[in-house]
Amino acid sequence: MELQQELKRIERSAVQKARRAKTNDAVAKLRAETVGKKGSLGSMMRSLRDLPKDERPEAGQRINKVKTKIEAALVDAVKRLDDARELAELEAGGCDVTLPGRWNFPGAAHPLAQVQEDILDALKAIGFSVADGPLIEHDWYNFEALNMPPDHPARDMQDTFFVADNVVLRTHTSNVQIRTMKKRKPPVRVVAPGMVFRNDDVDPTHSPVFHQIEGLWIDEKATFADLKGVLKQLAIKLFGADAELRFRPSFFPFTEPSAEVDVMFRSEKRSGWLEILGAGMVDPAVLEAVGYDPDEVQGFAFGLGVERIAMLRWGIDDIRLFYENDLRFLEQFSGR
Ligand code: FA5
Repeated sequence: MELQQELKRIERSAVQKARRAKTNDAVAKLRAETVGKKGSLGSMMRSLRDLPKDERPEAGQRINKVKTKIEAALVDAVKRLDDARELAELEAGGCDVTLPGRWNFPGAAHPLAQVQEDILDALKAIGFSVADGPLIEHDWYNFEALNMPPDHPARDMQDTFFVADNVVLRTHTSNVQIRTMKKRKPPVRVVAPGMVFRNDDVDPTHSPVFHQIEGLWIDEKATFADLKGVLKQLAIKLFGADAELRFRPSFFPFTEPSAEVDVMFRSEKRSGWLEILGAGMVDPAVLEAVGYDPDEVQGFAFGLGVERIAMLRWGIDDIRLFYENDLRFLEQFSGR
């Protein structure tokens, strides 16, 4: 009974003192006097020895209960003092509450990734599905099946990185045309995005590693008019209703007839036509190479340069900006 009263007294006094403490030092002192090793509860614990054995456990529990309550009061006291100090600092002008908050840039899709996604979205809406192919490719898929036999002069159009005999870093995404047609029966309607590699010198519109998106549509009667319709639709989605497209007659060994397509480019510094893609009706020799019958099916293909489209869209006049990873450039496309 005596112990109980003594504990009550200690608890009441400690909680009261904690509530009134004005400094952290006062709280520390109170802690030492009560729950500290040499504090009043500590010595009570030690004096348990003098109690009869059967009373010790209950008495010990009571002391611990009071200890927990006092510790909670001490924690509250520290928090109250911290809050008060912070408020005092704010009021004293130690903190400029009008400063913008600290902000961690959470990251955003790279502009090339954004453009690629927009192009794929537009083409998927017309009924294309996405296909994939390897970056390191056999000569046959990159050249030969595309109507470019060994030593054919057309191979010089794409200055190639060789990995081994007959193995190249793909020079275009057209390898996926072959891989898709080898795997599937017509009709096919696929788009294939990805990296391509050429031993091109770097200049404002050329990079040795860049991105293309290939399109391929084969069925019984897909025509050049369908090709124009698809590309016009894509241009409108990317550049708006007044997008200007220009088809120039051209040559690719794997299409006949072939065209290169330009879009009108306008930036502050310059304006003019910028070539964005090559296209044409798939050559019968290509259809035969993959086992299709050119008397039964026909279609068109196109391969567009993702960087060139991104440049057009945002009026960027140097392709190198995409690869330098300068956040001052990249953050402009973060959508903030
Ligand atoms: C081709 O690569 C053909 N495979 C495209 C094709 C596919 C034609 C299907 C017909 C049918 P070309 O070499 O022109 O074509 O490249 C296509 C596009 O890639 C170009 O219009 C241009 O936008 C882009 N491009 C070409 N070289 C570079 C380069 N070094 N850096 C950046 N973009 C480039």
